[in-house]
Amino acid sequence: MKILVINGPNINMLGIREPHLYGNQNYAYLCEMIQKYALDNGIEVELYQSNHEGCLVDKIQESYGRFDGIVMNPAAYTHTSVALLDALKSVNIPTVEVHISDVAKREDFRQISYVRQFCEKTICGHGFDGYLEAIEYLNTRYGK
Ligand code: DQA
Repeated sequence: MKILVINGPNINMLGIREPHLYGNQNYAYLCEMIQKYALDNGIEVELYQSNHEGCLVDKIQESYGRFDGIVMNPAAYTHTSVALLDALKSVNIPTVEVHISDVAKREDFRQISYVRQFCEKTICGHGFDGYLEAIEYLNTRYGK
């Protein structure tokens, strides 16, 4: 089982940005947590973070035929990007949408998610654990 974990803009600022929403741990900690979970469960993961929409589109396109699942936190691009939705539809890899904070309880502009139309599942407000839950879901459903 090979999973690509993609994070969008400002996720590299975890630990500094709005700790009341995103916690005190940084992006490196999140990556370690995911890698450890993957190792313990015999799953291969690749981690990618970018602040640039086009780079995220490129990464999704490059995943075609290479991954069994995608875990994606598109961050602010969740609420704006048709390009990310189209990229996910293009490669047609089972995808779970993750948000660290509970976007459902936040501003109106965060209530739209373009990628959600393609995603099998959305996990919101479970902090960093949401990524592990998403990996567990994909592994249970598609693991081999
Ligand atoms: C986020 C929620 C988004 O609304 C926000 O723009 C982010 C992070 C989350 O993980 O809770 O950057 O995706």
